[in-house]
Amino acid sequence: MIKEIKRLICDTVLDARTKLTPGEITSSVARQSGTDRKTVKLAIKDLVSLGELTYTYVYGTSFLERSFDRPVRISKRIVLKPPEKKYLPKPGEVIVNIAGGAAFGNGAHPTTCLALRAMDVVLGGDLCLLGRSHLSGLDVGTGSGILAIALAKLGVEKVVGIDIDPCALSEATHNVSLNGRGCQVMISKTPLERLAGCFSVIVANLAYPTLRRLSPHLSKRMEKGGVLILSGFKEPVAGDLGRTCAEQGLRLIGEETDRQWACLVLRKCGNMVWG
Ligand SMILES: C[S@@+](CC[C@H](N)C(=O)[O-])C[C@H]1O[C@@H](n2cnc3c(N)ncnc32)[C@H](O)[C@@H]1O
Repeated sequence: MIKEIKRLICDTVLDARTKLTPGEITSSVARQSGTDRKTVKLAIKDLVSLGELTYTYVYGTSFLERSFDRPVRISKRIVLKPPEKKYLPKPGEVIVNIAGGAAFGNGAHPTTCLALRAMDVVLGGDLCLLGRSHLSGLDVGTGSGILAIALAKLGVEKVVGIDIDPCALSEATHNVSLNGRGCQVMISKTPLERLAGCFSVIVANLAYPTLRRLSPHLSKRMEKGGVLILSGFKEPVAGDLGRTCAEQGLRLIGEETDRQWACLVLRKCGNMVWG
């Protein structure tokens, strides 16, 4: 029973689109499991002492989140870690330093993980992207900058990360600086609709209505043969989003799901222009 409660607590934390307070998690899990709040609180305490979850504090409010206080492997090559923690990378591993903050994107959310895993596959040679010179990347809704930084670390030479939230822009800029001089990422507040140029790889972890609305602009900013990774929406709307993208000349080449969240990988029709 306690194992099931702990699993529910972790699922509640990982599935949330926003940070949740310990009180919100306790109420939700007690309601779902029919357990008293005291038992749920004890299970939370245990998960914190085991290092699975951690308390975070933003503007005087405490939240309960998955602990990223240590290096965490997200995909075959990508390992996330706090900048102050030491980690000796194994051959081929890509280390992304992300400081804790208020912006979305510490790696805990399934939508971020799905996008990171898709990027690892796309840039790992399976889709013949890596190995070609002069790849460029765009991260729409960069938040903490996590996906933009990972793109750069995976070998994309020029990366731009954009966001509409000034707090995210500042945190992303800071996180880029924590990843060394080799991390060529420009953080910008320019809206997608006003952005110039075309990109080899675009990643966007955004809410479904935003992705739908932005789909013509995303397609417009893609090089022919380029790849678009979409995350941030639930499985039931994945088909509709895929059809919307097809109307923009994008062909579905991959799909992954994690706890009812979905991620689409699409390719812009036409011959590749890079090489
Ligand atoms: C779900 S978070 C994704 C953060 C990070 N990329 C990740 O994958 O963890 C979405 C981010 O998109 C930003 N955003 C929302 N609408 C946007 C838009 N139209 N253009 C650019 N950024 C947007 C939000 O401010 C937020 O930082």
